[in-house]
Amino acid sequence: MAKIINGKEISEKIRLRIAEEVKELAAKDIVPGLAVILVGEDPASQVYVRNKKRACEQAGIYSESYELPGDTSQEELLKLIDKLNNDPKINGILAQLPLPGHIDEETVINHISPEKDVDAFHPINVGKIMIGNYDFLPCTPAGVMALLEESGIDCAGKECVVVGRSNIVGKPQAMLLLHSHGTVTICHSRTKNLAEVTRRADILIAAVGKPDFITADMVKPGAVVIDVGINRKEDGKLTGDVNFASVEPVASYITPVPGGVGPMTITMLLQNTLKSAKKAKGIS
Ligand code: GUN
Repeated sequence: MAKIINGKEISEKIRLRIAEEVKELAAKDIVPGLAVILVGEDPASQVYVRNKKRACEQAGIYSESYELPGDTSQEELLKLIDKLNNDPKINGILAQLPLPGHIDEETVINHISPEKDVDAFHPINVGKIMIGNYDFLPCTPAGVMALLEESGIDCAGKECVVVGRSNIVGKPQAMLLLHSHGTVTICHSRTKNLAEVTRRADILIAAVGKPDFITADMVKPGAVVIDVGINRKEDGKLTGDVNFASVEPVASYITPVPGGVGPMTITMLLQNTLKSAKKAKGIS
């Protein structure tokens, strides 16, 4: 029987700490501000944007959301980002991905000021993460690290296997595990004998975006299993990348979906926005 890592509970604890700090800043007339941009009507993205806005309100963070029509031109979007880059009320800018096909995501990411890039997607911030001297950590991988830390799980010297190599999760996740002194392997769709590699993991991170992809035979008994996947099944229910029912009896710790990594992503976004606001005012 694995211990369930309760992301909702850990997230609430961290959000309370953030709200406290926001309150202390408010006494100095400093209010962190986040701008969230959504282009188009993707229902999952609409839910994420709504949740981000609500989380800001609860933490006392000022937020603006821009819900633009799907046919918004790239030029219009870049103009909005210019405005937000120059707005002192705004400390964080997030363009919700995926963007519609006629907009080049890389151009948009590169246009956001690195000082306001609370997603940590800008090449400058990605480079800083690589070096280990960063201002912002990417939200989902940072959320995973916070879950491990809050659960008393030390990565030093452990075999850490990340399944998935996306720019948003897999690659930065591997880097953060490396900074925590893990021995890190990244697996992907071309990995040979995948189960053999994942079975080596003391800490297994699933970030593939395929429902129930990780099954019990791919997990070493006693492993820590972190499920980054959020997949919607035909019945509308959410499920992760890990087949929870079969893996849970094998693992020592496991995150559920929902209620695992998901809430942590937004918590780390709030943390980055707070950090950016402090940095803008010269507070460390
Ligand atoms: N789409 C899915 N996850 C994310 C995220 O963390 N940031 C942004 N900007 N878009 C996303």
